[in-house]
Amino acid sequence: MTIHIQPSQAETNKLMSQFEHASQTQQIADKQQFEMVLAKLNAIMENRLQALLNHLQTRCPQEKVLVIESSAEPYTQPTEDQQATHNLAWQTPNNKTLKKSLQTLVGTENQDSLATELSNLLFLSLIPQDSGEVSIDFLHGKKAHRRQFGGGMGQHLVRAMGRLEKQSHPSSSLPTVLDATAGLGGDSFVLANLGFSVQMVERDGIVSALLADALQRAQSSHQAEDELAATFARMSLVTKDSRQYLLGNPPKVDTIYMDPMYPEKKKSAATKKEMAALQQRLGPDLDSELLLDAAIKTANYRVVVKRPKGAPVIEHPNYLPTTEIKSPNTRYDIYVIKALKTK
Ligand SMILES: C[S@@+](CC[C@H](N)C(=O)[O-])C[C@H]1O[C@@H](n2cnc3c(N)ncnc32)[C@H](O)[C@@H]1O
Repeated sequence: MTIHIQPSQAETNKLMSQFEHASQTQQIADKQQFEMVLAKLNAIMENRLQALLNHLQTRCPQEKVLVIESSAEPYTQPTEDQQATHNLAWQTPNNKTLKKSLQTLVGTENQDSLATELSNLLFLSLIPQDSGEVSIDFLHGKKAHRRQFGGGMGQHLVRAMGRLEKQSHPSSSLPTVLDATAGLGGDSFVLANLGFSVQMVERDGIVSALLADALQRAQSSHQAEDELAATFARMSLVTKDSRQYLLGNPPKVDTIYMDPMYPEKKKSAATKKEMAALQQRLGPDLDSELLLDAAIKTANYRVVVKRPKGAPVIEHPNYLPTTEIKSPNTRYDIYVIKALKTK
């Protein structure tokens, strides 16, 4: 498993605007500007590396992690203790090329290109061999796009969560949600953004570390000061097997949501490289029947299971879905607790 570390786009955008301001007011010469950008970029990378190492240390101290630097300058190396704890290896493959391309861009004073070049490189990702990178960024890219254009309260996922009766829940008709298969946090983010309180549970240590890192970055980002601050405040994360979590110390929750890795999930445009990479690391979730049973025993209101179109329902010895919601590629099987249909 390889962790690929680069600074977040939000932080670098901030950095770039400082850079632009400095160059507009001609406070510093070109070479100094360049050194300043590099120094700040490096400081961001080092902070991010430390944060991620901490998340990994608490979640999967036994995991072998290889850090590949793509910084223009070497980072401060982790301490020997950290290297020993994480089995860390250290590589700096791209230094020269990146530095050269940045210099060329700064040389032409094409700051827009420099900003684009940098922002294209800025993410934290996990790269299993022979497959795509996995990175989580709630504030930019696909997740931000889905938040803006995903369809709001009318989208299938959101309708599947249901609504509580107003009389018995006067403060909010939105059910509280436990996302028992949090993965890259995409579905949880959509729900939290629309007002649902979402507890995410993820059992894989590395995926959970990436998620924790992304959440922490988003929570501390300047952009999260506005309406997004409330969204991230509604999201929490537990690193555990959901079945154990639900059976051990059952949380009070209305809707439990499950999106287990499906064995034959095709590489559609939607799943793309990220899911393929995740699938390569995790393999299919072969214990979904057990999780479904624990979820039905715990949820107060409903259990929702996301399945690819045409996939069979998850086997349960006693129950069938009460109803379903279909979208072009996906089906949501809904188990309404009060109205469970026995087989
Ligand atoms: C298909 S992904 C979920 C994708 C997620 N809905 C999203 O929008 O990013 C499935 C994830 O569920 C996790 N998972 C499966 N069974 C689990 C369990 N019993 N407890 C906790 N996590 C589980 C897997 O490790 C994997 O990360």
